[in-house]
Amino acid sequence: MHTSVISLALSLASVPLVASHPGEDHAKEAMKRREFLKDNVANLNHCAAKLDSLGVSERSIQRRHNLIHGIREKRGIIARGEAHEGHGYDAGVDQTTLFSSNSSCVLSPEEILGPYYVAGESIRSNIVENQKGVPLHIDIQFINSANCEPIVGSYVDVWQANATGVYGGVVQQGFEDRNDTWEDTWGLTWLRGVQKTDNDGAVHFETVFPGHYEGRAIHIHALSHIHATPLPNNTLIDVHASHVGQMYFDQDLVDEVEKLAPYNTNQQPRTTNDEDVFLQGDLEAGGYPFMQYELIGDKLEDGILAWLSFGINATESKTVQPITTYHPRATEACSAQKKD
Ligand SMILES: *[C@@H]1O[C@H](CO)[C@@H](O)[C@H](O)[C@H]1NC(C)=O
Ligand SMILES: *[C@@H]1O[C@H](CO)[C@@H](O)[C@H](O)[C@H]1NC(C)=O
Ligand SMILES: *[C@@H]1O[C@H](CO)[C@@H](O)[C@H](O)[C@H]1NC(C)=O
Ligand SMILES: *[C@@H]1O[C@H](CO)[C@@H](O)[C@H](O)[C@H]1NC(C)=O
Ligand SMILES: *[C@@H]1O[C@H](CO)[C@@H](O)[C@H](O)[C@H]1NC(C)=O
Repeated sequence: MHTSVISLALSLASVPLVASHPGEDHAKEAMKRREFLKDNVANLNHCAAKLDSLGVSERSIQRRHNLIHGIREKRGIIARGEAHEGHGYDAGVDQTTLFSSNSSCVLSPEEILGPYYVAGESIRSNIVENQKGVPLHIDIQFINSANCEPIVGSYVDVWQANATGVYGGVVQQGFEDRNDTWEDTWGLTWLRGVQKTDNDGAVHFETVFPGHYEGRAIHIHALSHIHATPLPNNTLIDVHASHVGQMYFDQDLVDEVEKLAPYNTNQQPRTTNDEDVFLQGDLEAGGYPFMQYELIGDKLEDGILAWLSFGINATESKTVQPITTYHPRATEACSAQKKD
């Protein structure tokens, strides 16, 4: 098959608001994306030795270990200061094996932006607000695939649907005529946030496990801004992205989460990983965009720590088109005005 001349230049210049969502042409977009992937997938196996020698691998294992240990202490699952976790969930598991990231040696193909990116979200680690669901801590790391070094000091935007498959801050396709949801979601900021990568290229977010919505497997979006500057009010508005990606979860884990409330009240049709055209495109291209994970306690409801390392092209700069830029809700603006 010939590599088509089309989409590469186009998709680099501007990531369109495309078909990852209900009512859109999935097949067409998936085809475009496959064209893009043909030229944009690189193997990162060559980075393993460098990451080891820089100490990044070891510190990342330690970081994930500390993270889960801290969460367990905070939730009272283990006693404060308890050195060894003598519980069923990780007894006998070698922490090095457990928390190493096999995806650090795996490319991460660029993903589509999807129509629900909102610029101007707050720089914050905890994005839960009032949303219910299985607690999810994510540790995402960005590695420059060219020199195998961590990407330090870049801003990472994440956004996702809530436990019943709805995005805050936008009017979701398929929901336009549902006044209740429209009223509910417009201008809201839950399950959206921005963090700055640390010296090992990592960010941490505290969220809830996402729910499904029509046409897509469960996923979380991530976008990295390499040279961005936050605004004085601790928000980020920047339309340059070096990486746009989506993170997925093992189908077995998804199936277990979906049995729990409130996930099991979601009426939208489900799409499994096998049926998701975008995920399948990534896999066919040699990517592996699944988060590795560990349960925080003995039951799923105690929460999950999940992690993934992205290898990215740091010299890349795409222009992304947010569907909107966050402004405080009109009602709040009005009441603020009244006070003057
Ligand atoms: C990463 O680890 C998972 C779970 O252990 C395994 O199923 C998968 O094949 C591994 N992927 C690679 C690319 O090594
Ligand atoms: C939404 O509100 C409009 C006007 O208030 C009403 O005519 C319409 O039936 C409502 N739609 C739904 C799906 O409730
Ligand atoms: C998800 O958001 C929608 C819209 O705000 C809301 O109606 C629904 O209750 C939320 N789901 C959960 C589990 O909170
Ligand atoms: C990274 O992106 C830049 C800018 O688009 C491009 O010139 C370069 O070839 C890319 N590098 C790789 C390894 O794909
Ligand atoms: C932050 O500041 C920008 C620029 O002044 C403004 O457009 C935006 O609405 C502000 N965001 C919030 C949450 O106040």
